[in-house]
Amino acid sequence: MKPLSTVLLLLLAVPCVAADLTGNWVVRDALPDGTFRTTYLDLYQEGSRITGTIRVTQFYYKIIESTGGPDGFTLTGSLTDGTNERRVKYEGKLVGDELHAATRRRPDAELIQVVAHRAPPGEGAYPTRLPLPAIHKVADNGLSKTPPMGWNSWNKFAGRVDDAAVREMADAMASNGMKAAGYQYINIDDTWEAGRDAQGNITTNKKFPDMKALADYVHSKGLKIGIYSSPGPNTCAGYEGSYGHEEQDAQTYAAWGIDYLKYDWCGARNLYADQEMRALYQVMGDALLKAGRPILYSLCQYGRAEVWKWGADVGGNAWRTTGDIRDTWDSMTNIGFSQDELAPWATPGHWNDPDMLEIGNGGMNGDEYRTHMSLWSILAAPLLAGNDLRNMTPAILEILTNLEVIAVNQDKDGKQGRRIAKWGDQEVWARPLSDGAQALGLFNRGGTPTKITVKWTDVGMKSAPARVRDLWAHGDLKLDGAEYSAAVPAHGVVMLRAAK
Ligand code: GLA
Repeated sequence: MKPLSTVLLLLLAVPCVAADLTGNWVVRDALPDGTFRTTYLDLYQEGSRITGTIRVTQFYYKIIESTGGPDGFTLTGSLTDGTNERRVKYEGKLVGDELHAATRRRPDAELIQVVAHRAPPGEGAYPTRLPLPAIHKVADNGLSKTPPMGWNSWNKFAGRVDDAAVREMADAMASNGMKAAGYQYINIDDTWEAGRDAQGNITTNKKFPDMKALADYVHSKGLKIGIYSSPGPNTCAGYEGSYGHEEQDAQTYAAWGIDYLKYDWCGARNLYADQEMRALYQVMGDALLKAGRPILYSLCQYGRAEVWKWGADVGGNAWRTTGDIRDTWDSMTNIGFSQDELAPWATPGHWNDPDMLEIGNGGMNGDEYRTHMSLWSILAAPLLAGNDLRNMTPAILEILTNLEVIAVNQDKDGKQGRRIAKWGDQEVWARPLSDGAQALGLFNRGGTPTKITVKWTDVGMKSAPARVRDLWAHGDLKLDGAEYSAAVPAHGVVMLRAAK
């Protein structure tokens, strides 16, 4: 029999130990697509202070504020990339050996109740760094001699894309005039992935029951199909990336019949510095070639590490030059009008990519979407529609299928246009075309209609060109004199093709 003092000590000590929040706590949320989203709360309680991290896929929040303890606590986690801060908050208590807490998945989302269980220390730890290969030049795959044209699911559907939507998008593209205008790729962005099977093969989630059958369907429409992954352990939306499985994934894509890969840095940023990107993109470039199917390779790393200088050397056919576009005038123009200096890096097969089109998503008016389409065409940018192709208005379809503007985008010389003049809100851009003509964009970035004048000497012509065509009005212009003045609507464009 233990002395009374020992029993008292034990009685006092046990609740103390059991009630400590210190530990690795895991929350497993089932998502409707059959995958799970795990959150790890790695907590250290010292007196009334709780420190540690909250990790959701690749996102690490550092706990910066806490109150209370097992009977009632609050935790605030902060995640910053140096410019923007995101916060997450948990409020709860210890119930038996579970943490019961309320939190929000996003600051504007509803409050939800979660239950966290104890996990062994170290469970869910982020993968360690794999060694990087020596740098070499990946052979050119010979694809995309003109900028890719197609559709991508992200801008409109984000996580809501599924097999049925992709089939319907292919049906629409094949029958609404887009295919005839040159659109070709139907690209599935993030959120198609599940985990890996016992052999390490990537698997699809419930939204995509049979990727091979889906690819066959898209091919049966005379179109091509694209997919998305990351060099990191996680994609941006927290799904499975290709980290450590690059060759295996490239073989899977080839076996499914995939024609296009968008490869998004995202989760890799937790393990590697920007200067190391090239090596990781090279790994997938090599893997795609080895897989033996022509797969267009699109790099997505937001224009970091001067990707235009090495994108082609890792086998890339296109590389994003900026952060994500949004369906607003400011976002589209800040991106589109900032591409001038990158022009020398665009060549047939290797394109600067200022991100996908927002045309038809509703945040801009017709003049603004015509500016978007004109600028992306002068920039020799990929034309990846990002709207719902099943139910767009005739006016939007007309913008997306303007054959005269698309002919500029697809010019075989692949020279990216440049800004040749700027006065306040007025800009004139010019793109040299293979037959010696010039495509001209007279852009009005201002909020009121204006007159924009282009001097022929500014575009390397001694006098008025013999033939000038207005590519939106679809008419020829009769010109003489040393310059031409056009009335340009607010946020609008006049796009011309001028031939000597
Ligand atoms: C990043 C990319 C986007 C899209 C999302 C998907 O933000 O830049 O284009 O692919 O990831 O999660």
